[in-house]
Amino acid sequence: TFVTVVAVLLSYLLGSIPAAAWVARGRGVDIRTVGSGNSGATNVMRSVGKGPALAVAVFDILKGALAVTLARTLGLAEPWAAACGVAAVVGHNFSPFLGFRGGKGVATSFGTIAALDPVIGGGTFVVGIFTMWLTRFVSAGSIVGALVAAVLVVALGRTPWQMLVIAGLSGLLIWLHRENIARLHAGNERRLGEKVK
Ligand code: G3P
Repeated sequence: TFVTVVAVLLSYLLGSIPAAAWVARGRGVDIRTVGSGNSGATNVMRSVGKGPALAVAVFDILKGALAVTLARTLGLAEPWAAACGVAAVVGHNFSPFLGFRGGKGVATSFGTIAALDPVIGGGTFVVGIFTMWLTRFVSAGSIVGALVAAVLVVALGRTPWQMLVIAGLSGLLIWLHRENIARLHAGNERRLGEKVK
């Protein structure tokens, strides 16, 4: 329906707000040219600081969660609420404000999954954060979190469309981390807390 199309487009637009790039620019930093060059909270932490990074992470999580909530408020069925969450992630990763580039969708995917399925969101969060803490690699925690979501959606016997959504989000997230994976292999991935200028 018309409402569904509008909700998906609005979700894409919401997701495309490049908080990391704009917060960094406000501090005189061009996020695309420092650290990993990624427009995400992790790279804001490296190049700007912890407070701004936390604000970006919360905002990016909310983009996914709000897209799902907006769809539900409009009375859309759950698969369409999921489509809106996915649209927010796509907007974040391929933002018209950044020449259709963007981040890797970790925070926004998490917000989407947590809003759609709090049990899977909770499991993903606990294992992902634990992995980040243990390894001191945000990328490793993000990839492990994506894998945990995929395992949980199957283990908990969720429906095929839920499996499809998680497979899509996790697959996209891992694919966008291919440079991180190469750095992890090569042993030169940046650790949590490493600063750049
Ligand atoms: O937020 C994405 C994170 O998993 C990796 O970020 O900047 O280290 O590529 P970065």
